[in-house]
Amino acid sequence: MTQMHASSRPSPALTHRPRRLRRSPAMRRLVAETRLHPASLVLPVFVREGIESPRPITSMPGVMQHTLDSLREVATAAAEAGLGGIMLFGVPAERDAEGSAGDDPDGILNRALRAVVAEVGGELVVQSDLCLDEFTSHGHCGVLDAAGFVDNDATLERYTAMAVAQAEAGAEILGLSGMMDGQVAAVRGALEAAGHADTGILAYAAKYASAFYGPFREAVDSQLQGDRRSYQQDPANRREGLREAQLDLDEGADIVMVKPAMSYLDVLSDVARLSTVPVWAYQVSGEAAMIEAAAQNGWIDREAAIRESLLSIARAGADTILTYYALEAAAWN
Ligand code: PBG
Repeated sequence: MTQMHASSRPSPALTHRPRRLRRSPAMRRLVAETRLHPASLVLPVFVREGIESPRPITSMPGVMQHTLDSLREVATAAAEAGLGGIMLFGVPAERDAEGSAGDDPDGILNRALRAVVAEVGGELVVQSDLCLDEFTSHGHCGVLDAAGFVDNDATLERYTAMAVAQAEAGAEILGLSGMMDGQVAAVRGALEAAGHADTGILAYAAKYASAFYGPFREAVDSQLQGDRRSYQQDPANRREGLREAQLDLDEGADIVMVKPAMSYLDVLSDVARLSTVPVWAYQVSGEAAMIEAAAQNGWIDREAAIRESLLSIARAGADTILTYYALEAAAWN
């Protein structure tokens, strides 16, 4: 045989062979553009008033409503795993129209903050959700006017009271997730006036009215009737995400966030390009629920899907990701 085997035939035209960098696991690891470091992950957790033992959340496999004791344990695990932080959500026993338990120093979220700060403060950044929906009898993120519409400016007064209570309970970063106009400026002003200049603001800058919050509503026993479309953004709008982020930057946000993550990677990428402060994204309950349900059916590889979803969020521009998989993903490092 005089003819050379096809594979040893020189191909002078093929200067570029991207496959060179994909040949082995070691090579792929070396050239990875994006990595999931535990410090770039924040674990959202739920604490419920008046329960004796942790309760599973049906639509969020593996996620619990915690007691104060089990919350301390999960906070310790988060610190040991090297996570960047923990985000607390409270589920109160009693609700009213104004969400009074939100700014009550003895309300479940403020008690939980004190407990977690005492346990892991300094090792892990302790953060709290600053919104009224868990605390109101009607389930809206604000107080209602006579016509039943969420009253923006009256709600800001409630948020400022909550902000001071949470800062006093030891929260280092407040997650403003209510989507009221002017909430960052109002909370910043109230914190400064109350002597909490060092408490940071994470603005849920671009937060969309999303079907992917479904399981979260079970997690917090949401009382919501109707929807949040008069304050959360319309999924049709991309440019508006930039407008919301710019306003929050102008009002003094320390960090801006896009939420949900996977269906809004375009918005995340836009915000990451414009922002002069850290950019975070929240992989919400419904995003995890889709992975869990498909994996339970044997339709996707669960761990590979989690990894790919988190990488896609990081690749789009998130410096840090809030994810229910934070502990699990931290263990992959
Ligand atoms: C509002 C809030 C919500 C989520 C985080 N903060 C719910 C909503 O806006 O309806 C959703 C998080 C998730 O779905 O994982 N307090």
